[in-house]
Amino acid sequence: MKTKETIISKITNTDADALIFAKAGEIIRGSGLVAFPTETVYGLGADALDANAAKGIYEAKGRPSDNPLIVHIGEKEDLYKLAENVPDKALALADAFWPGPLTIILPKKDVVPYSTTGGLDTVAIRMPSHPVALAFIRESKRYIAAPSANTSGRPSPTNAGHVAEDLNGRIDMIIDAGAVTIGLESTIVDLSEEHPLILRPGYITKDMLEAVIGTVDIDPGILSEKGRPKAPGMRYRHYAPKAPLTIICGDEEDVIGDIRNRCQDAKEKGKRVGVIATAQTCEKYDADVVKNIGDRNNNLSIATHLYDVLRFFDTTQVDVIYSEGFDDANLGQAIMNRLLKAAGHNVINLCEGDIS
Ligand code: TXA
Ligand code: MG
Repeated sequence: MKTKETIISKITNTDADALIFAKAGEIIRGSGLVAFPTETVYGLGADALDANAAKGIYEAKGRPSDNPLIVHIGEKEDLYKLAENVPDKALALADAFWPGPLTIILPKKDVVPYSTTGGLDTVAIRMPSHPVALAFIRESKRYIAAPSANTSGRPSPTNAGHVAEDLNGRIDMIIDAGAVTIGLESTIVDLSEEHPLILRPGYITKDMLEAVIGTVDIDPGILSEKGRPKAPGMRYRHYAPKAPLTIICGDEEDVIGDIRNRCQDAKEKGKRVGVIATAQTCEKYDADVVKNIGDRNNNLSIATHLYDVLRFFDTTQVDVIYSEGFDDANLGQAIMNRLLKAAGHNVINLCEGDIS
């Protein structure tokens, strides 16, 4: 339901942008909601220390209120204003990766309201590197609580058009700075307990974290369909396209052959088929819709297109979708984590002979 006028302001990288940040700051200080770009995905921002403003985020997104928000800061030192018992490892990670796509979880200070942390005694903190995000946070003179700026259950927005699709009429402002550069949400590392734990894989990989602070584990809850992830938001089934999505993993030639056969079968049954392929393979399929998700040899190009492709299939009439699987090393781990969630862990692994 449309309830308010949403101002949509385009960043021009000229002096005129100052007016946009001034307006956005005014909205934030008045308990309003502003969507803004970060290097990962667009966020939906509100004053993190204003319990009512944070509630507004849950309402606009239709998000369960036990799912905590990430607090975005404009200066590294702000970490100490929001978190208690900051360990040396947190500082080392902040020095190595902030500003950037890393969220750190620590025990919260009393100033952070429970409506921001979903009732938890910990707080998630991130200093983004996108210059527009930093300017917006600094100009607002507040800490900015921001989940991804999508309605709950839809893929995170990677451009301002995605935000408008979901939230136009429900929020006060969208700052449009074009497409983001990473396309998948930040890596979340939990330092609130003795052993560092990755709760959500992202652009900053396990190896990169371990190079700075030593051993880091991955939350076992995110590795299988039946696990219970520690991050509340990782428990929900996300991004599921309307048509069932199946991922086919294996050697490239086998995968192509298998998907081609499935396309043929589906067609014979009168079904419309969508395929998610790469620049290297998209010519090989004769499906109703073939989407090129990016360059198979460049994970970042796949990451930046993933959510746009999933959104595309929500507006395209297909009965089934088949996707090629991707190498899950480094950034590939985050790509496969999101793709598996979209597919409800519906995977066929040709290497293991699992063609059930
Ligand atoms: O890249 C990103 O992180 C983007 C941009 C806007 O910064 N934000 C983002 O926020 O992805 P959101 O709300 O869509 O995802 C935040 C995740 C959720 O899974 C939430 O459950 C988890 O972080 N989280 C937040 N605070 C937490 C806490 N204290 N303990 C455990 N998980 C937490
Ligand atoms: Mg999200």
